[in-house]
Amino acid sequence: MSSSPTATAQVGVVGLAVMGRNLARNFANHGHTVALYNRTQARTDDLIAAHGSDGNFVPATSVEEFVASLERPRRIILMVQAGAGTDASIDSLLPHLEEGDIVVDGGNANYEDTRVREEKLRARGLHFFGVGISGGEEGALNGPSIMPGGSKEGYAQIGPLLEDISAKYEGEPCCAYIGPDGAGHFVKMVHNGIEYADMQFIAEAYDVLKAAGLDTKAISDAFREWNTGDLDSFLIEITSEVLDQVDASTGKALVDVIKDAAGQKGTGRWTVQNALELGVPVNTIAESVFARSVSGHTDLRAAAQANLSGPDQTFTPDDVATLIEDVRQALWASKVIAYAQGLDLIRTGSLQYGWDIDVAEVAKIWRAGCIIRARLLERIRSEYAAGNLPTLLAAPSISEGLANAQSGWRRVVADATLAGVPVPGFASAVSYYDSVRAERLPASLIQGLRDFFGAHTYQRVDVEGTFHTEWSADRSETKEA
Ligand code: 6PG
Repeated sequence: MSSSPTATAQVGVVGLAVMGRNLARNFANHGHTVALYNRTQARTDDLIAAHGSDGNFVPATSVEEFVASLERPRRIILMVQAGAGTDASIDSLLPHLEEGDIVVDGGNANYEDTRVREEKLRARGLHFFGVGISGGEEGALNGPSIMPGGSKEGYAQIGPLLEDISAKYEGEPCCAYIGPDGAGHFVKMVHNGIEYADMQFIAEAYDVLKAAGLDTKAISDAFREWNTGDLDSFLIEITSEVLDQVDASTGKALVDVIKDAAGQKGTGRWTVQNALELGVPVNTIAESVFARSVSGHTDLRAAAQANLSGPDQTFTPDDVATLIEDVRQALWASKVIAYAQGLDLIRTGSLQYGWDIDVAEVAKIWRAGCIIRARLLERIRSEYAAGNLPTLLAAPSISEGLANAQSGWRRVVADATLAGVPVPGFASAVSYYDSVRAERLPASLIQGLRDFFGAHTYQRVDVEGTFHTEWSADRSETKEA
């Protein structure tokens, strides 16, 4: 396709807050000429003043100028506020775009919105990509994990650029085509759900060790040590850094002066909402979202503190080294359960929407760059690549790992519960493990109760068909026609 002589930029970034700015610099650092546009001109000027020497930037003062500076097909990355901000940016660009141009939404959009936007732009001959980008500010600048969803045809145009700036795991890009329309944002949503669970488990590990009398320094040392083994991951690594941080004004550990109410922007909640819709048990992720919710309910907590009694939430371990190892096992096993649940949701979402997502590819591009990057992901990738797993837990190396970890895992849940230390994530993970491996669940009784009060019927283990007991009459059993 032809471009005007002034169209020199291979890619353009709209929205130059920290994520957009760093992504633009990342493209420039990789030798691409980057068009820049921000509604407030000062942000564009700041970027040029501070980092103009990173590479070739083409700053624009208007949408028209920005669009005109891009080679065709135009490749435009929106890094604006999710929701209304994204729609406003798309609307301002639309009159200036031409068939074949590509618009990428790099924010944490809801995948259902992405599906709507993709359809709208497709009708105009444009490619719309919903792209999950993980790795925070640092990742955006030096290599994030990138989860693109959109048309295959459009990916041929935008994919190589995204792969170029993505994180690399042993030389392989942490960016791969995920699937059509909302697939990329769906996968990013589940990534964040797992991120919630990962952080909840870390917080519980810290809390159990603290309740056992370890000081912050000793806990930080345990995390640092764990990061050299199977638990090796970004979140474990930064946990020791956060724990080591001393508050300048009080001289206390910073973690002790931060309010214990966790915030959330919504992706964890979306994960759970979608799992409920799709009927996928993501118990650990749900517990993690609810644990944040509990932490923020100041009035509820104050009323409960004033009225509820129980153990004093401390305990004395028989042996500190054994406890630390048990907590490590609990952390690893629970993490595996959260990944298994999240990946089940991705598989189910993929079937529901016809996305054909390759779960091994998802694990592959999460190995570096993203917030949940972890040594475990290479094992998960290879297990999914080796066969069509009904659940990650069926993979031999995983089931063996869980078998080895379970005594420590169970001791942590039991000891914490006896001492009154809340471990909703660990307990939910071990209960899921026991539920799915149980030969028989008490759901039979639930069916009996449903039949009793509502004639909801049940099925039998020994005979085909649907049955009802005449509970209010002679209690004989009838078979439904
Ligand atoms: C990432 C992060 C990023 C952001 C979360 C935080 O992958 O880079 O997930 O997207 O940190 O959205 O989410 P909460 O504010 O909901 O914890």
